Amino acid sequence: MDSLHTFSASGTHTWGKHFGSLVVVIAFTILQVNGQGSWKLLSDNVGIASMHTAVTHYGSVIMLDRTNIGPSNITLPKGRCRNNPDDLMLKHDCYAHSVEFWPKSGRVRPLFIWSDTWCSSGQFGADGTLVQTGGDYTGISAIRRFVPCAESDGKCDWKEDKAKMYEHRWYASNQLLPDGTFIVVGGRAQFTLEFVPPKSGNATYLPLLEETNDFQADNMYPFVHLLPDGNLFIFANRDSIIYDYKKNLTLRKLPRIPGTPRSYPSAGSSVMLPLQAGDGFSRVEILICGGAQLGAWAHPERKLSAANDCGRMVVTDPDPEWIMEKMPIRRNMGDMVLLPNHHTLIINGAKRGSQGWGFAEDPALHPVEYDPYGTPGYRFTIMNPTFIPRLYHSTANLLPDGSVLLAGSNTHQFYTFNDTYNTELRVEQFLPEYLSSDYDYLRPVITESPKSVGHGENFTITVTIPSRPLFENQIELVLLSSPFTTHSYSQGQRMLNLGVEEPILLDADSGSYSYQITGRSPPSGNVAPAAYYMLFAVNYHVPGEAVWLQIVA
Ligand SMILES: *[C@@H]1O[C@H](CO)[C@@H](O)[C@H](O)[C@H]1NC(C)=O
Ligand SMILES: *[C@@H]1O[C@H](CO)[C@@H](O)[C@H](O)[C@H]1NC(C)=O
Ligand SMILES: *[C@@H]1O[C@H](CO)[C@@H](O)[C@H](O)[C@H]1NC(C)=O
Ligand SMILES: *[C@@H]1O[C@H](CO)[C@@H](O)[C@H](O)[C@H]1NC(C)=O
Ligand SMILES: *[C@@H]1O[C@H](CO)[C@@H](O)[C@H](O)[C@H]1NC(C)=O
Repeated sequence: MDSLHTFSASGTHTWGKHFGSLVVVIAFTILQVNGQGSWKLLSDNVGIASMHTAVTHYGSVIMLDRTNIGPSNITLPKGRCRNNPDDLMLKHDCYAHSVEFWPKSGRVRPLFIWSDTWCSSGQFGADGTLVQTGGDYTGISAIRRFVPCAESDGKCDWKEDKAKMYEHRWYASNQLLPDGTFIVVGGRAQFTLEFVPPKSGNATYLPLLEETNDFQADNMYPFVHLLPDGNLFIFANRDSIIYDYKKNLTLRKLPRIPGTPRSYPSAGSSVMLPLQAGDGFSRVEILICGGAQLGAWAHPERKLSAANDCGRMVVTDPDPEWIMEKMPIRRNMGDMVLLPNHHTLIINGAKRGSQGWGFAEDPALHPVEYDPYGTPGYRFTIMNPTFIPRLYHSTANLLPDGSVLLAGSNTHQFYTFNDTYNTELRVEQFLPEYLSSDYDYLRPVITESPKSVGHGENFTITVTIPSRPLFENQIELVLLSSPFTTHSYSQGQRMLNLGVEEPILLDADSGSYSYQITGRSPPSGNVAPAAYYMLFAVNYHVPGEAVWLQIVA
């Protein structure tokens, strides 16, 4: 055990420790170090290095590594073992490669997974089931399901479907569709897409995936975003299209993003910026940040500098173009997380190299927050750093309390604890500045809310705020999906800023202010596919803890 296990970050402390000189201080002033946000260790050992992570509507976190990795650091319960003659490492394997983690209690429960999930894909379905697809070898066309349960239940586990996908899906991306099915796009040496559950016929050829297959195969884990008009934005390498998946039609080819490749193994990240009720959810902006320099993967020994830019494009414009912006910190393998205050957090990764086994150097320990509505040139704020590098095979997921959970990092073929960058079993939490107790006087608490709501309906919630808001009509309601995060991309991540009516003051007696707020649910499954969402009330950019709201079709 080292003393770092009790670490709770304070930026000034860390800065003071590592950097003393005036020159350095000046350099950081230019970079706008605001020393925001804080860090907490949630667990010093969850037993596995989570390569794939997703937060269920019970609040548990499902973590997955791969099965053919040999020993993990946690065994299956009650002497249970997996006897899979096809496993490449352990045909008699008593280790768990997936766990359920409860951030509040810190409890870890090992889960049983049969086929190999290495570099697989996934997404939650309409009923909150995590549907998980592909992987390597025995799992390459597998479909698995995890129906989540309460912490006190403790019995839910993975199940494998009898049905298989048509094609091999290793490094594919999934997107939940309005009809409750999933589209699964691409994979290694895979230029097709298909649907889950499988539709009759076969996989569908998508030319974009073949056209973007360069000498490093920088077309994997493509960025797939469901647009409010029902089409898909699909991005691979540096190119993107608007695709009508119902008719198998490429409707538009969008301009090539300047700079480096942005998808795996070059590994930038991507979000669709929050959709706004104010414009009828009609305007869509895609943000893509970071990535490895072309060649960094083919020549890992060169440890080439990562990209230091983001591209932003209004894909709903008739003649869109990428607007490039400079990040204060270079980064590949960054994870982009939409926060309820409308900022995008960019976290994890490295300043040199690419994805792969020991291919990266210079961990990017400082997250940055990007304010999409800020003045150009002043949109990034550098946050306080962690001390735990999160490189290849690490993840970042928003939790309902508004913090971000960081898990994994394993740049090795096996669990390795004697190297510069060890297999990482610790789980941390990054608390954005809005979670500071300085803002508790603004923090809204949702005291009553419906469990579910249909599309295009009005729903009413009750919110309590410790002090009377200056402008009551600035209380926002936002929905955030819970994505499946792997390889620097959160599959199915989306955020909606809902329409709300003027809050009605119900009670101002007991030292706090209670409001009734009527919000309008998203108008359609294209805007928000039926699923569980985190509903946040946000007062002056300060969110309270979310409640889970199921949008039903
Ligand atoms: C996990 O790692 C710790 C520390 O190295 C070790 O003591 C323990 O036996 C390991 N547990 C398993 C199940 O491998
Ligand atoms: C599906 O298409 C692949 C080529 O992409 C082909 O090899 C395979 O035979 C087809 N399967 C069926 C059932 O038609
Ligand atoms: C889908 O469209 C592509 C061209 O974009 C074509 O090559 C392919 O055959 C089509 N597949 C089906 C099933 O229609
Ligand atoms: C780490 O341990 C492994 C297996 O025990 C060994 O093969 C490897 O050489 C060690 N590496 C270093 C840097 O000591
Ligand atoms: C929701 O409320 C608005 C404003 O009062 C009203 O115009 C609209 O008809 C309501 N929608 C439904 C589905 O009741």
